[in-house]
Amino acid sequence: TAEQKRSDYDLMLHAARFYQHQLKHHANSATVINYVKGRGLSGETVKKFMIGYAPSEWEGLCQQLGRNKEQKEQLVELKLASEKTPGRQFDFFRDRLMFPIRDKRGRVIAFGGRVMQADQGPKYLNSPETRIFHKGFELYGLYEAKQAHKKLDHILIVEGYMDVVALSEQGIEYAVAALGTATTAEHMHTLFRTTDRVICCYDGDRAGRDAAWRALENALPYLNDGKALQFVFLPDGEDPDSLVQKEGKDAFEQRLSQADNFTKVLFNKLSQEIDLTTDAGKAKLLSAVLPLVEKIPSEFYQENLLEHLGRLIGRTKEQLNNRLKTPKQQHA
Ligand code: UTP
Ligand code: MN
Ligand code: MN
Ligand code: MN
Ligand code: MN
Repeated sequence: TAEQKRSDYDLMLHAARFYQHQLKHHANSATVINYVKGRGLSGETVKKFMIGYAPSEWEGLCQQLGRNKEQKEQLVELKLASEKTPGRQFDFFRDRLMFPIRDKRGRVIAFGGRVMQADQGPKYLNSPETRIFHKGFELYGLYEAKQAHKKLDHILIVEGYMDVVALSEQGIEYAVAALGTATTAEHMHTLFRTTDRVICCYDGDRAGRDAAWRALENALPYLNDGKALQFVFLPDGEDPDSLVQKEGKDAFEQRLSQADNFTKVLFNKLSQEIDLTTDAGKAKLLSAVLPLVEKIPSEFYQENLLEHLGRLIGRTKEQLNNRLKTPKQQHA
């Protein structure tokens, strides 16, 4: 027969639909819906993000979408199923709240799954990389943000699925999340191709502050004239999800309007680590900042940083400019 091979994207979409169906019709449905409501999510938001439920059975998805050998192999290849012994497949995601990850064209390419009770393994389980899912490149929520706004004046980058979804629930529909990895250079490239202003807003904890610094370093190569990179630091113990639910859209957006520019964040961080009252410290700051300046394409930002650096270490902008690997043409 001329049976057409199921495409990878078609399979992923059907998996998402299967999980959506289970959210409403599985025997555990009431518990799952209760969890979702407890996290402050409406049916509308659940639908918008195609949130679903991976059933607790070992072969829920496999039975539905793995009808023959070829289909079963495809499930394993796309990491929706695992195969411990050859020929015996079982579901990769079980008893988890499911967040489909879509590419910027809206195609489902992977999933994140959250446990709903403690002691059930890692809190979030993400699809491993597959032939259609390349982690460092994809941003959760970017498709939805683009759908919500014809032009994205700014994009907020946060840590988690729940942050993106909770912000959307409160009417902030321009947040995206990296997927269980740090924000990579590729993420920053994508973001600055899509918008002029990127605001980083990570969790108010050690990990969140470290993530901010890595994001800053990875963003430098994309800071052309007209691009802005900003940071919002949240109170200890808060993340965008918890905070926006506590204080609402307006107060949260107020924080965003007061975001710190990357130059401030850069010097704050380095001056905390380096003692600038000594010459040794000043030399250290110089050698920390120059390589960062060299990564920035915008001359405007370069000069800003050199000016700021000069004030801190007692050098003129011109002296510092000569230390760059490719000194900028001096303006008359
Ligand atoms: P967090 O650890 O900050 O999530 O991880 P959270 O805010 O506590 O989660 P909730 O609010 O209780 O649901 C942020 C992101 O890091 C990734 C996920 O993408 C998550 O959204 N992560 C976290 C994992 O991939 N695995 C984990 O075990 C934990
Ligand atoms: Mn189909
Ligand atoms: Mn965290
Ligand atoms: Mn968090
Ligand atoms: Mn959280």
